[in-house]
Amino acid sequence: MQCASLKQKTNLWCEKALKNAKAQISLEIDTIEASGKCINPVTLTPEGKVYYCQPEDWRSGFFPGSVWYLYELTKDTTLLPLAQKYTEALERAKTLTWHHDIGFIINCSYGNGLRLSGKTEYKKIMVEAAKSLCTRFHKKAGIIQSWDVTGKGWQAQRGWKCPVIIDNMMNLELLFEATKLSGDSTFYKIAVSHADRTLKEQFRKDGSCYHVIDYNPENGKVRRRETAQGYADSSAWSRGQAWAIYGYTMCYRETGNKKYLDQALKTFHFMKKHPHMPTDGIPYWDMDAPEIPNALRDVSAASIMASALYEISTYNVVEGGSYMEYADKIMQTLASTKYTAPLGKNGRFILMHSVGSIPHNSEVDAPLNYADYYYLEALKRKSDIEKGKKQP
Ligand code: GLY
Repeated sequence: MQCASLKQKTNLWCEKALKNAKAQISLEIDTIEASGKCINPVTLTPEGKVYYCQPEDWRSGFFPGSVWYLYELTKDTTLLPLAQKYTEALERAKTLTWHHDIGFIINCSYGNGLRLSGKTEYKKIMVEAAKSLCTRFHKKAGIIQSWDVTGKGWQAQRGWKCPVIIDNMMNLELLFEATKLSGDSTFYKIAVSHADRTLKEQFRKDGSCYHVIDYNPENGKVRRRETAQGYADSSAWSRGQAWAIYGYTMCYRETGNKKYLDQALKTFHFMKKHPHMPTDGIPYWDMDAPEIPNALRDVSAASIMASALYEISTYNVVEGGSYMEYADKIMQTLASTKYTAPLGKNGRFILMHSVGSIPHNSEVDAPLNYADYYYLEALKRKSDIEKGKKQP
């Protein structure tokens, strides 16, 4: 009896969350279709305008990916050609070699597309994109360079030689996929090399991670440990912690190597037990932000963490149920009116109150398409678990 009512309660918040998400994304789809172009929404500017990006932007895969998840969750077949169209508008990004985020771009769009539509022509694009990503691999250091340090960008001003950010763990999923699709183990080996070196260099004893490690590509040694988007070099930038939790969980899935799962759990427990973690599970943008308890929250960090925790809950871990419970807590909070935008507001993004980068005064307390993407992915993972499907 108790079990049945618990399940009913779960179904209620999940159903409501999905209904809101579908309604909001449908409004954005109407806007895109009315424009007659394949515009790709990212965030809302301080002036209240939706910012649309080009395929080369690191966030270009998230909206197409969200439409794929919505299609998967609702089985609404009208979404299928739209998801395909938005995905295929990104094709030219497959040759991108000037930053590392091609993994995010191609895997969230084409990766989901291949999984859900079986369009075999997507395989070639994914493998080509993985090759582009591998051009950034430095053998001596054993890592994939995240950002270029030449040119006019702010990265060039920092004096780095070969910066690697923790976010880069997310790009490895494309490499694991490319080995499965092509049979070429080079991609897998590069992914493992990057994951191993990052594991060694990027984490602190307490389980938290640095944002940026700068390597010397000539001798492979670490030059500096710093931050770009966090409060301080030594602080715990929340989205970075979320990328680490998600990235190492994914590496465990792809390799079966327990040390990756152990790191994901260690970083998660650092966050969970942090004295500054709010009781609703939505982290401050940086867990050491001086304005705490008045610091801004970062909803994107919360949704990335929730998605990873659902995956962790399916593995053979001590107190597996506690990861599910924590993810549910985050998701129910995100699904509440505190974080879910009223229909038609918030630039037609689902979730409010994310933080792009406070040090760059960019996307401060704004909606972000990747917060929505991982929220939908978490809803899908929750739904899969309820149906007894294996992760992910
Ligand atoms: N990957 C960039 C960010 O998390 O802001």
